Amino acid sequence: MANVLFIKANNCSAEDSVSVRMYDTFLASYKETHQDDEIVQTDLFSEHLPYLGGTMITGNYKVANGYSLTPEEEAEQAFVRKHLEPFLAADKVVIAFPLWNLTVPAVLHTYLDYLHQPRKTFKYSDAGLVGLLPGKKVALLNARGGTYRDEDEIAVNFVKKHLQVFGITDFTMVRIEGHRQAPGRSEEIIVDGLRATDQAARMF
Ligand SMILES: Cc1cc2nc3c(=O)[nH]c(=O)nc-3n(C[C@H](O)[C@H](O)[C@H](O)COP(=O)(O)O)c2cc1C
Repeated sequence: MANVLFIKANNCSAEDSVSVRMYDTFLASYKETHQDDEIVQTDLFSEHLPYLGGTMITGNYKVANGYSLTPEEEAEQAFVRKHLEPFLAADKVVIAFPLWNLTVPAVLHTYLDYLHQPRKTFKYSDAGLVGLLPGKKVALLNARGGTYRDEDEIAVNFVKKHLQVFGITDFTMVRIEGHRQAPGRSEEIIVDGLRATDQAARMF
């Protein structure tokens, strides 16, 4: 039985959002084909996550070094723990997110900030950073209105690079792209992409 964490980084309705439809499709197909697995869902927009800033940085440092926290630091560390612990516990992680204004939604950036914890997700060594979570499988589900060469697009590469710092190498990628750039083909692109999403979930 695998422990699977699903993360949704879009609070638009499914009708208005391709990445939410990818999330819903992947979840339904995964549940159908992996009935014994434990699924945890996180809807990032409903979490009202505090940004990484001075209070969280000093709190992270104090937690890592065993110092006591101010009440403000403790309040922010509660958010960090709430999201770090399920991520560490997950055998597989599924993240659905749109490309908005050349990057990821701010909530996803903030969520990824919470995961950068020395000795939990990575450690320093003479050779540089070493990721501590090499066994985790990740599926990235991304919708982007334009068509990009993968190396030029920012959102998927941004998320992937964060996760690579944690040692993750096993990525399943599903992209639906170009449906805004080519409105005449929009429906076909989305239907094909959701079919690919369904297939990816069954194999994940
Ligand atoms: C606020 C906003 C910003 C967007 N920025 C970009 C962009 O920078 N590049 C792009 O190709 N498409 C952009 N798009 C189009 C989206 O990538 C496209 O609608 C995609 O389906 C987003 O996923 P969603 O449908 O789940 O919201 C943007 C759409 C919105 C609503």
